Amino acid sequence: MPLVQAEPIPLNAIQLSEEENIPTGILELDRVLGKGLVLGSAVLLSGEPGIGKSTLALQIAQKTAQRQKTILYISGEESVNQIYLRAKRLGDSSETLLVYAQINIIDILNTIRKIKPDIVILDSIQVVYHPDIPSTIGSVNQVRQCASELIQVLKEIQACGIIVGHITKDGSVAGPKVLEHLVDCILFFEGERHQKYRILRCFKNRFASTAEIGIFEMAANGLMEVTQASELFIDQATLLSPGSMVTAVMEGSRVFLVEIQALVVDSGYGMAKRTFSGVDLTRANLMIATLEKKLKIKLATKDIFLNIIGGLKVKEPALDLGMALAIISSLYEKALEKKIGVIGEVGLTGEIRAVTNIEKRILEFEKMGFVSCIVPAQNKLPQTEDRKIQIISVKTVSEACKGIMK
Ligand code: TYD
Ligand code: MG
Repeated sequence: MPLVQAEPIPLNAIQLSEEENIPTGILELDRVLGKGLVLGSAVLLSGEPGIGKSTLALQIAQKTAQRQKTILYISGEESVNQIYLRAKRLGDSSETLLVYAQINIIDILNTIRKIKPDIVILDSIQVVYHPDIPSTIGSVNQVRQCASELIQVLKEIQACGIIVGHITKDGSVAGPKVLEHLVDCILFFEGERHQKYRILRCFKNRFASTAEIGIFEMAANGLMEVTQASELFIDQATLLSPGSMVTAVMEGSRVFLVEIQALVVDSGYGMAKRTFSGVDLTRANLMIATLEKKLKIKLATKDIFLNIIGGLKVKEPALDLGMALAIISSLYEKALEKKIGVIGEVGLTGEIRAVTNIEKRILEFEKMGFVSCIVPAQNKLPQTEDRKIQIISVKTVSEACKGIMK
């Protein structure tokens, strides 16, 4: 179906072909996409340089080529020899995976029209150019024009497109930003280069929810899917140390147990330091203020460090109580005596608010061998007989902290 039509047609007269999706076979990616790549649509695969975009793109190409799909892998950054060497490390390739080192978009579009591949991968949009546009390669005009002509051709031949785009930490580089409204789906590969875990998030998706995330581990032979994620964000060795708490967070339809660590120390001269990583800045500051007020403790003269193990970034309010208890546990240098999970949002008056999907979260704690779980009383959870885990319901942050304060 072309992007532009001569005449309007009734919506219910539109006939879709049977196969609208091409699953990539990489389950962590397919879940984020919805069902897989969608015919005639374009996915922007963005992320910082070196995070693993080209690796993922090549793995998608290899996986789908094995199922007799024709893939045109266009690289403007690497020679075909480099791609060959990388592909050899990642897995088997087949006859239907075509590689093409090219940066002239007119040549690229003509080749796509000629070959009519099922999947087109362009790595990356910042290095291709349109000969009719005078601005330099990578400029907003070039990026926008090349991308919109490519997307037009994808619709024309009903191919799935993956466009790779680099982005810096603050998202300031031209390119992905100007492409946002052109593409149907925006994937963002996040993680720290020195950590092996990579998280694939979705910022926009015309075909599915944007709530799901995919987790990968960068190994010697490419990106490995991580399906059992709860172990990643917990350090068994530090679990029962002062300042460590484990909470259960929801990412899309999945639950992860994450360990949050706090370090509270007397600050030297000047402003007390607040160093947070992985937690939401505003919520963390709010938690500190709530603890000062409700527990009548002084934190203004303390440096406070908060960190989520494994590099996950959590925005969920259900993390609140975990943060609060981790801070108190470090302040009083008192650790939990057994594996106790903590779930709860903390309100401004210190009340513990109910969280969604509580049963799912508790089940994950049970699965990971936790003996008790502190939960919001507002969730009104019964201690049923078949529950292996002990439920501790709390109403306020002071009540929750009492156990670990002197
Ligand atoms: P790459 O896909 O080139 O990143 P991007 O395209 O986002 O710039 O991958 C970057 C890093 O991944 C590279 O520094 C080395 C590492 N890597 C592995 O650890 N194992 C592998 O099998 C591959 C292909 C790459
Ligand atoms: Mg690359």
